[in-house]
Amino acid sequence: MDTIENFINQVICGDALEILRKMPDESIDLGITSPPYNKKEKHGGWLVDKVRYKGYKDFMPDEDYQNWQVEVLNELYRVTKEGGSFFYNHKVRYEDGKMIHPLQWLLRTNWNIWQEIIWNRKIASNIRGWRFWQIEERIYWLVKGKPKELKSKHAKLTSVWEIRPEQGHKEHPAVFPIELPTRIIASLLDEEDGQVCHAPQVCHAPQVCHDQIVIDPFCGTGTTIVAAKLLGKKYIGIDISNEYVEYTKRRLEAAEKEKDRVLNEISLHAIKLTFKDRKEKGLWNKRAELYR
Ligand SMILES: C[S@@+](CC[C@H](N)C(=O)[O-])C[C@H]1O[C@@H](n2cnc3c(N)ncnc32)[C@H](O)[C@@H]1O
Repeated sequence: MDTIENFINQVICGDALEILRKMPDESIDLGITSPPYNKKEKHGGWLVDKVRYKGYKDFMPDEDYQNWQVEVLNELYRVTKEGGSFFYNHKVRYEDGKMIHPLQWLLRTNWNIWQEIIWNRKIASNIRGWRFWQIEERIYWLVKGKPKELKSKHAKLTSVWEIRPEQGHKEHPAVFPIELPTRIIASLLDEEDGQVCHAPQVCHAPQVCHDQIVIDPFCGTGTTIVAAKLLGKKYIGIDISNEYVEYTKRRLEAAEKEKDRVLNEISLHAIKLTFKDRKEKGLWNKRAELYR
């Protein structure tokens, strides 16, 4: 077993399960990922062409796929610290007329499912009218033990996230919008004094803030990793494709270019009126005012 220092601030090309098995227990604060969805590209068609990865075929019998995801998630559980969290993005799929729900395998892992977040993407490719237009995905907040309570400015963002998907990305078919991992990291790894560290040079709690480690075991183009870097965290990225790993490394070097989007997301984590303000202004019943 290697020490965690060997993995910190690295983007590693390899199989997620194999790399995770080399990591020590209880060393990670937070994980975020969107694994391949097992979209079965052998069926072909223009829609599937749009989600074709470089260096990976997204096709497995679903039972094998689900068992693989359970193994990866349990390995992630082992490497996560007590009180740590993992955010797992997936979607409800349909095969041969039957629904395949991520809960089918999530309930078989060691994680406790803390919350189901609906990611309202507002748009999705749609070919047929067999069902109503599926424009949402799911994000499962998984916990090991009990997580810290969220500050109100984060919790008020609600369990429905209206974030537009990233579009027109030439390098990769399924890139996160950077707002998504930013929201998670800023909310979960906020500091004791309430400051999110987007300015490491003036950080109020460097010992806490900069020692926190964020992992993405299927990091693709490295969106989680770039968000973690910009928020002053340590990071570990893994992807099976060397092309994506090299792309992530270049993206990390140019991370400053993405800072405005990160700061814009953080600006949403604010409450106009405090509890005290509300009381003084007699706004007890005007919940909407508070959260605007
Ligand atoms: C949905 S994409 C992740 C995209 C990422 N969230 C982003 O913002 O770019 C899933 C990734 O998993 C990678 N992958 C597939 N099998 C893998 C494995 N066994 N180990 C590690 N990565 C794998 C693929 O190369 C792909 O980039």
